[in-house]
Amino acid sequence: MNKKTNIAVFASGNGSNFEALVQACKNGTIAADIRILVCDQPNAYCIERAKNHNVPVFAFKAKEFTDKAHYETEICRILKTYDIELICLAGYMRIVGHTLLQAYDGKILNIHPALLPAFKGAHAIDDAFRFGVKVFGVTVHLIDDTIDGGTIVAQRAFEYYGNDRNEVEAKLHEIEHQLYPEAINIILKTQKKIIHNESISIC
Ligand code: GAR
Repeated sequence: MNKKTNIAVFASGNGSNFEALVQACKNGTIAADIRILVCDQPNAYCIERAKNHNVPVFAFKAKEFTDKAHYETEICRILKTYDIELICLAGYMRIVGHTLLQAYDGKILNIHPALLPAFKGAHAIDDAFRFGVKVFGVTVHLIDDTIDGGTIVAQRAFEYYGNDRNEVEAKLHEIEHQLYPEAINIILKTQKKIIHNESISIC
């Protein structure tokens, strides 16, 4: 049997994507284990979810560290102890810095609630709504040192002509929970290349 890939999920809030990824590992949709949840908001609900699934948590407050390099060094140290091969950002609302990017170059995925390169940033759904778009969607991408940049792995769109933001958000979440495991599977197919730090192209 092939070895499962060790994943760390990073989240800051509700954690519905974290939960979807845990379920996808449990039911065999992805051949991976969620080894740890990293969370920058010690009161976030995602921590409860992790406890319910017996997933270890590293929770931290950024302001208790001198700077980003300092807390990311600590995160890297912890990830090493769990032998982490892939990081999945799932509603992690911090910009990943040089320290983590360098340590996990080409091995960090992010999910974004818009069709990148449109509507980058922390308010993508509101921005898309304000713009009056009629096609919404989700993107999973490898991150680089730009905001919501990096190679796109998977995208899914839907048309919406109404004006209920909650309805759009619910639909986006439904898509995210399917698309993230699919995108991870695309990445795992190229896993050998990732582990050996070769650049990958996704077509
Ligand atoms: C998700 O919609 C995710 O796409 C978004 O945060 C939400 C987290 O939901 N991420 C971003 O906006 C990143 N820029 P969850 O905590 O229920 O998984």
